[in-house]
Parts: sequence; C-alpha cells; structure tokens
Amino acid sequence: MADTATDQAFVEFERVQKSYDGEILVVKDLNLSMPKGEFLTMLGPSGSGKTTCLMMLAGFETATHGEIKLDGRPINNIPPHKRGIGMVFQNYALFPHMTVAENLSFPLEVRKIGKSEREKKVMRALGMVQMQDFAGRRPAQLSGGQQQRIALARALVFEPELVLMDEPLGALDKQLRETLQFEITRLAHDLGITTVYVTHDQTEALTMSDRVAVFDDGRIQQLAPPDELYEEPHNSFVAQFIGENNTLMGTVSKINGDRCEVTLDNGDIIDAKPVNVTEVGQKTRVSIRPERVEMNKDRLQPDVHTLKAEVLEFVYMGDIFRTRLRVAGNDDFVIKTRNAPDQVRLTPGTQIEIGWLPQDCRALDA
Ligand SMILES: Nc1ncnc2c1ncn2[C@@H]1O[C@H](COP(=O)(O)OP(=O)(O)O)[C@@H](O)[C@H]1O
Ligand SMILES: [Mg+2]
Repeated sequence: MADTATDQAFVEFERVQKSYDGEILVVKDLNLSMPKGEFLTMLGPSGSGKTTCLMMLAGFETATHGEIKLDGRPINNIPPHKRGIGMVFQNYALFPHMTVAENLSFPLEVRKIGKSEREKKVMRALGMVQMQDFAGRRPAQLSGGQQQRIALARALVFEPELVLMDEPLGALDKQLRETLQFEITRLAHDLGITTVYVTHDQTEALTMSDRVAVFDDGRIQQLAPPDELYEEPHNSFVAQFIGENNTLMGTVSKINGDRCEVTLDNGDIIDAKPVNVTEVGQKTRVSIRPERVEMNKDRLQPDVHTLKAEVLEFVYMGDIFRTRLRVAGNDDFVIKTRNAPDQVRLTPGTQIEIGWLPQDCRALDA
C-alpha cells in the first residue's frame, strides 16, 4: 500500500447524503476516502444505495448534503463529461448503429482528439480486451461477453484516471464472469486506474478488490480488505452477508478483556470474543465460521466450553466435508472439515461434541 506521502485521497466522499424525494435518505452520512490506483468495491443488497453513490460520483445525480472530491477538488459543480471518468454498466449501452471501432472512437471525438490519434487509441484499447478482429462489427453481431469487453474498452479508450463499473458482469454466465473478473482487475492494475466497482456478488467483491465497502440501508457497514472483512466482521450484518456463518443467540454472562462467556437461549454456555458487547446482561448474536469449529477435543484449549451436537446431514464435496448439525436448538449449524485421510465422515444421528477457540467466535449485536 502507498506510504503516507503518496497516500493522499484521490476520491473522497465527505458526509454525503442523498434523498430523491426530499424525505427519505437513501444515502446516509457517507464517508469514504480512496487513494489513487485503488480497486474498491461497493457491495450490498439491492436498494442499499450503491448505484446512487456511483451516479453522484459520475455527476448524473447531485448530493443532497456533503461534498465529493476528486484529486482534492470538489466536483459537485463539474458536469459529467468534464470529470474524466470512464463508466461501464450492466447493459453494455453500446450505440447499436455504430461499429465497434466507431463506438470506441466516439468518446475521443467528444474530447476533440484528431483522426490518426483516435485510430491508434481505438486499436490499442481493443487490444487490451483481445477484440482487435471485431472492429468492423456492430454490437448486435457480438455475444454478451464480447459486448461487455467492448464496453470496457470504450471506458478505457480515453485513458481515464477513474473508472466506475456498475454490476458490469451481472448479465453474463458464471465462467465468462470469472474470466472477465480477472481481466478487469489485471487491466486496472496494469494501467494504474482507480476503480469503483459495484456488485451484489460477494465472491466477486472478495476476489477482485483491494478494499470492499459493505453497504446496507444507505450506510457503509464496514470498509476493509477482503480478508479482514471475512475474518473480522464488525457487526452481524457483515458477518451474515460475507461468507457462510453460524449464528447463535444468547446473553453475555461474563466478560473479561478480550474474552467473554455467553449463555445461549437454551442454557448452554460458550466462549467468545466480545466485539459489539461491553457488559454482562447484554443480548448478543454470536458468529462462528463453519471451518473454525473443532470437533476433536484434543485440539481445544482445556478451559473452553464445549457443546453437544447431533449430526443431521453429511455432504461429501470433494475437497471438503460439509456437515449439518443441531446445536443448541439450531438445526442449521454447519461445519466444514478438510478431506484429509484421517478425517471421519459423520453419519446422521451421531452425537458429537464441538468447540472452538474463543477468538474465532465473535459476540456481535443481537
Ligand atoms: N431515480 C430515483 N428516484 C427515486 N428513488 C430512487 C432513484 N434511484 C434509486 N432510488 C431509490 O434509492 C434507493 C437506493 O437505490 P440504488 O442506489 O439504486 O441501490 P442499489 O444500487 O444498491 O441497488 C432505493 O430505495 C431506490 O428505490
Ligand atoms: Mg444498483
């Protein structure tokens, strides 16, 4: 990551709010600061305000309150075409009556770039997405994946410093999506472009991004690199939205520094790390990842509590085993174990005992 001298923010949202109807805020007090060259993804459920944020940054919507800055300058009053921002949307938005080459040439003509320079830039941009042979075709003569490559080339052709992408791969099948995910991140990093990427697909967000901003209800719930988001969710929403997760409800019954005891609603006691709880008596939702649950007592610390569990279902998945358990009255408690030579395959009906390291179980907001 950049050091402090070059770490100056390139994109900034300062206390930004947005209301379309003058009453309901769909973006609430948004603060965000991105260094140059970063690939940041806005991830969140539908309606959480992601597109609205992108549209304000692009200049197609105005902020109701607050300020957006690009390279240190407020841009609230700069029209969209003067912001030097490339954009890619889900529905390609190529001009149907123009050839691929003409589609790419258009943003350069708007910027008053001469003909020979335009031709050079168009071919270079087509080369970046391996589409040089398609310059003479019209969009209707291309597949969805090819059209999206052209849309990407068109966003890059005028060498923008900032590119915004709103669910650009949403309409494509899984394999094509994965290929293009890789191409987009490679291009962004090779060209040193700052990218704001929007998706509701958590795998896409985790695999592509330097940092992910998890949106819910018009707010950033957590902004962190992918591994931190997965391993240290700040609240129940993020824990449940990112990756698979087991939750149990209970009340804090002891608390001591970075360790607490939670009495579950059925009376069982477990050990956890207090994250969003500070005192005894508070309700909490504890969160534990399936791969962090231990069923071999010898590998647990001697002083941790264990829970009785009944095996409900065993699924062989090749690389891992996925076993569903009944734990403290919860029938959807899942554990994942690596398919190692000595790993037992649990049969439904078996009673086992499970536990975990206290720091792997997070006591969050109820
Ligand atoms: N042009 C608009 N006029 C009125 N309401 C809108 C408009 N665009 C979006 N909204 C509302 O704002 C909220 C956030 O929408 P949006 O930013 O599109 O979310 P996302 O991209 O995360 O799905 C939603 O409740 C949506 O209905
Ligand atoms: Mg959207």
